[in-house]
Amino acid sequence: EGFLPFEHEPYFPFGREDVARAQREAYRKVREEYVGRTFPMYLGGERVEGGETFEVRNPADTREVVWRFPKATPEQLEQAVASAKEAFETWRFSDPMQRATIFKRAGELLRARRMEFNAVMGLENGKNWAEADGEVAECVDHFEVFARETLKWAQGKPVYPMPDEHVTTVYEPVGVVAVISPWNFPAAIPLGMALGAIAAGNTVVWKPASETPLSSLLLVELMFEAGLPRNVIQFVTGTDEVLGDPLVDHKDVRMIAFTGSKEIGCRIMERAARVQPGQRWLKRVMAEMGGKDPTVVCADADLDAAATGIVQAAFGYAGQKCSACSRVIAEEGVYDALLDKVVTLARELKVGSPEENAPLGPVIHEGSARRIMGYIENGKQTARLVLGGERADVGEREGGYVQPTIFADVDPKDPLFQEEIFGPVLTFTRARDWRHAIDLANDSEYGLTAAFYSRDPGKINEARRLIQVGNLYINRKCTGALSGTHAFGGYNMSGTNAKVGGPDYLFWFVQTKTVAQKY
Ligand code: SER
Repeated sequence: EGFLPFEHEPYFPFGREDVARAQREAYRKVREEYVGRTFPMYLGGERVEGGETFEVRNPADTREVVWRFPKATPEQLEQAVASAKEAFETWRFSDPMQRATIFKRAGELLRARRMEFNAVMGLENGKNWAEADGEVAECVDHFEVFARETLKWAQGKPVYPMPDEHVTTVYEPVGVVAVISPWNFPAAIPLGMALGAIAAGNTVVWKPASETPLSSLLLVELMFEAGLPRNVIQFVTGTDEVLGDPLVDHKDVRMIAFTGSKEIGCRIMERAARVQPGQRWLKRVMAEMGGKDPTVVCADADLDAAATGIVQAAFGYAGQKCSACSRVIAEEGVYDALLDKVVTLARELKVGSPEENAPLGPVIHEGSARRIMGYIENGKQTARLVLGGERADVGEREGGYVQPTIFADVDPKDPLFQEEIFGPVLTFTRARDWRHAIDLANDSEYGLTAAFYSRDPGKINEARRLIQVGNLYINRKCTGALSGTHAFGGYNMSGTNAKVGGPDYLFWFVQTKTVAQKY
């Protein structure tokens, strides 16, 4: 449609020594320039510093405080919403071409700084080089994709004409959008939501996860540098007590774009439904939540490809992705062979520091490690432990290091099979046949991603029809959705199916105006 051809941002080949050296150098510079600093918030276009702060710790060694951020006060939250509301009165009329140009420019700026962003993320949430790189590359894609989507949506949609009226359907922004985001994708996830809002002409109050504020802040500053008026995004950091419910409840917030746990997503849905005094609309809630994502392996599948995909999707970033494979469901005939292959590959995953690019890093914090170990200890009573099952020994470091863990013969009623663990824990369950395997895949309250391995076109067709998820991957792993191509978002308790990066995503952030004019 008159746009330059789109290509996804390629990943860095870290296997090359010069590339690896550049990533190590980026870590060194980030440590030199950022560690120990206190960073600002942004309110109404102003940098806000001072006041009480909180610490951000390196999950690879939680004794290390990497940087600090301000703790917003209730007054500052008020100010953030008021500033966003005020900025909306001009930004809503901004030229879509201007917005698209800013996104393009921000994408170009980010391309030049990817390794720095990778290093910051590694220090905040423990992603190794390739995992951080995948996410930062996704941010570049987001900028490119949203630039194009901005222009597409600015055109409105054609209607069936009438002879005596001129009728147009146009999309207008809704107002102040609260963006509330998780620590596991601290750049790509809030960026997708914020770009959706801004692309449509809304203004934003952006609350990053308190584990990972710098991965978000650097993107906000990058957009300012690219020309985004500084009052369009209010960046507020601090405690959930001040920034959680009060932001969701605020009468001047028009929409909440949330990604995170099922528990918080449901809470937001419920609270946002209540009309506050002075509130003049029904709030819109986008809530993208968890997953318990299955990989189905049929007897005719390429078992090596399946095993590789399973291990990447289950243990990449220690399984801390809503898209992670956490349940393998295999047909009887190949169950043992597949289990063998997966265990062999997973056993090779060295647990260690993400900064040194270990394949398997720590989970986000001690509390999370304890919760995961709780599931593992229960699992030892109810299923057959075939790999891991303990905290990993990483010497001096203090952190939530958990061994890659695999349970076999897991009953579908077991919490291991039903509940999102958000850690490096994988279950295997036997299916009588491929049809039974599909039923087991669907035996979940979630419905985010699934993978299906088979060479049989008939089975693949049935899988396409029957598996109830938002993102179904055939003969490939179930993580790593690409912006612009794999519109991302789930069914059922995985959330509102917003489909970020997809052709309909911007519809979430607009209201539709029909204008009929008689001459
Ligand atoms: N979009 C990520 C993936 O597909 C998860 O948030 O893995």
